[in-house]
Amino acid sequence: MHRSRFSLSRRQLMASAGALALSGAGWLPDMNDRASLRELGEKSGLLYGAAVQSRTLREAPRMAQAVARECSLLTPEFELKWNTLRPEPDVFNFSRADQLLRFAERHNMRMRGHVLVWYKSVRDKWLIEALNNNPPESLLADHIRTVAEHYKGKLYAWDVVNEAIKAKDGLPDRMRASPWLTAYGPGYVQRAFEYAYAADPITPLFYNETNLEYDDEETRLRRQGVLNLLDKLKRNNTPLHGFGLQMHLQVGRPYSPKSLASFIAEIAKRNLEVHITELDVSDVDIPGDRDTRDRLVADHAREVLETVMAHAPVTTLSTWGLSDAYTWMEDRYFRADGARLRPLPLDRDYNRKPLWSVLADTIEGRK
Ligand code: XIL
Repeated sequence: MHRSRFSLSRRQLMASAGALALSGAGWLPDMNDRASLRELGEKSGLLYGAAVQSRTLREAPRMAQAVARECSLLTPEFELKWNTLRPEPDVFNFSRADQLLRFAERHNMRMRGHVLVWYKSVRDKWLIEALNNNPPESLLADHIRTVAEHYKGKLYAWDVVNEAIKAKDGLPDRMRASPWLTAYGPGYVQRAFEYAYAADPITPLFYNETNLEYDDEETRLRRQGVLNLLDKLKRNNTPLHGFGLQMHLQVGRPYSPKSLASFIAEIAKRNLEVHITELDVSDVDIPGDRDTRDRLVADHAREVLETVMAHAPVTTLSTWGLSDAYTWMEDRYFRADGARLRPLPLDRDYNRKPLWSVLADTIEGRK
């Protein structure tokens, strides 16, 4: 990135940088001079990572360089999901997830496993039909065993079950209406963890959940549903080691630091390690120019991260993507003004953005 040249004193430089930052010019002298999120995290103990696709690392060398520079952790964006791993009942295709693991190992990084059981991974016809026709327990058990054994001891953590709670579905215990629930009953969550632990007792096992950050009725009910699920798993001595807070944030959505703080404190009471697993910040509804949006995205991320970090033992912070050039959001959300979305710490040319600085401050332990 071109470094601006100021003939100002350091104090003036910092003041102008502050103004530039506020004006949204996007260039902060310390941001580009600063150590990478990887270096900051490996020093502070709060590891930073990102979700990536094996194809992106193969086809976009500048993305691969940025990932190697900034990340201590990788999460396969979809390579470990049923619909990618297992196109047919007897076909397990580990090649793309193995490519990501090799990339991680080559760069002395770790990889999070994501995700053994998720309702949205049920996409292939064979699986939809199987789950709708009273499937044998072995379909679930053998899948988890096969995948967890393949990566035994090689992953930093597993997201075993993802997004099992959705209060508005109106089911007992606020369980989400899911093919897994239909096929196996509410006990599928516990059994998934038990199968994963039986296959790989080394890797910490996480329950991962979304939409917990804001202040509305569904979120309030969902938070209670999640806490009740965690308590039930713990009561039944389920091998559950951690909680994944996805943190897909949206600027402008009603937010209460107080209610989020009390939820996060409840999570902390349950002696679970916490991973922030999928942070990104939607600017789809923010009016204004690029720099204004970048500043609002950064400010919102800072306020939510400060709340979470103050109340929970967070050990890793992952964003769902690293560069705006590759965000899942653009598959599904579109701005009225047609501008590209900017939810991630690096822009489309891999330049650090104000959100990057927020992550750096959070990881370094600064407020
Ligand atoms: C998303 C991927 O980013 C997309 O590429 C895919 O089409 C759908 O899944 N919560 C999760 C992730 O736990 O697995 C989802 O990833 C995003 C929402």
